[in-house]
Amino acid sequence: MKHSFPVTLTTHPKQKPADENNLGFARFFTDHMFLMDYDEGQGWHDGRIVPYEPLSIDPGSSVLHYAQMMFEGMKAYRRPDGRLQIFRPDMNVKRMSRTAERMCIPDLPEGVLVDAIEALLRVDADWMPKTPGTSMYIRPFIFGDEISFSAVAVDHYRFVIIIAPTGAYYGSFTGKLSASRIYVQDKYIRAAKGGTGYAKVGGNYGGAMRAARDAKAANCKDVLWLDAAEHKYVEEIGTCNAFFRINNEVYTASLDSGTILPGITRDSVIQLLKSWNIPVHEGKLALADVLKASEDGSLQEIFASGTAAVISPIGSLTFEGKDYQVADGQCGELADRLYNTLYGIQTGRIEDTMGWTHQFDIVVE
Ligand SMILES: Cc1ncc(COP(=O)(O)O)c(C=O)c1O
Repeated sequence: MKHSFPVTLTTHPKQKPADENNLGFARFFTDHMFLMDYDEGQGWHDGRIVPYEPLSIDPGSSVLHYAQMMFEGMKAYRRPDGRLQIFRPDMNVKRMSRTAERMCIPDLPEGVLVDAIEALLRVDADWMPKTPGTSMYIRPFIFGDEISFSAVAVDHYRFVIIIAPTGAYYGSFTGKLSASRIYVQDKYIRAAKGGTGYAKVGGNYGGAMRAARDAKAANCKDVLWLDAAEHKYVEEIGTCNAFFRINNEVYTASLDSGTILPGITRDSVIQLLKSWNIPVHEGKLALADVLKASEDGSLQEIFASGTAAVISPIGSLTFEGKDYQVADGQCGELADRLYNTLYGIQTGRIEDTMGWTHQFDIVVE
């Protein structure tokens, strides 16, 4: 059953960003947002589209103190024929369910996420950017909204979706992705076994900010996280999953420990590599082996994967004050091929033989 939602249109449309080449990442939100409420006993109810405006929230609301919240991150792309599509939304739905379970947040009814996104994109279709490399970033989130200082799950929740036209991640994309310097963080950890690492919750990100400050101070773009127990094995890079290519084989941390986020781009990269007959291992990879490979020349590539940038090549690692270069320090051939294939499928420029895209009946001329 498809859900439909009442729409209240804004009477004060905002000025749209004038320069699509300067959108940045989620800086301008559209004219409308989606809202839905949950009350114990009644379940999720009253999904609706309303003008975008500040939410009113009681200062005693538990989310502001104990962070019972969750979110997702997705993008809508405009195909060459003008039709809008999203990428593997079934995976976001599954990840939301796992996060909701971990946070004692009630799961959404089946189909609500995708139907709500479609309804919001339809109302704000004239905000869809058209310049190559741009997309519409989609941020669904749910938070416990109840006045309570008891650190237990509450009975009332709000589900919100906001969307923002977003620029090309690589601002000056000239056909070659630019490689970044990454700081190996061996003091602070992101997530431990039994924690919330596999869930998409705000606390994971707030707790990571102190570590990211070290990276910036060392003139690095982001952090390479190590495992919490031994500070020995590589896990994720900032808000992305991490891949290492050594001697023509690709390594990435497995999902078994529950400490890394099961990225949708990560899963897509693994499937593409397998379809290209490139060996890919999901398991433990010691930082020491990566550094050794950098020194003996067998480290061919490191790249990060995620919705925001798709694929980000890494040019060097900084560890204990020393720089370890990754091959020639430039974007590697696999990162380049993966970026072009994934981004091509996402934007409808490459045929989707994997069945990954979900097209809407919304055309933006
Ligand atoms: C911690 C973390 N790891 C990995 C990812 C990549 O996930 P995805 O490919 O689904 O965007 C993200 C981004 O959502 C993230 O926040």
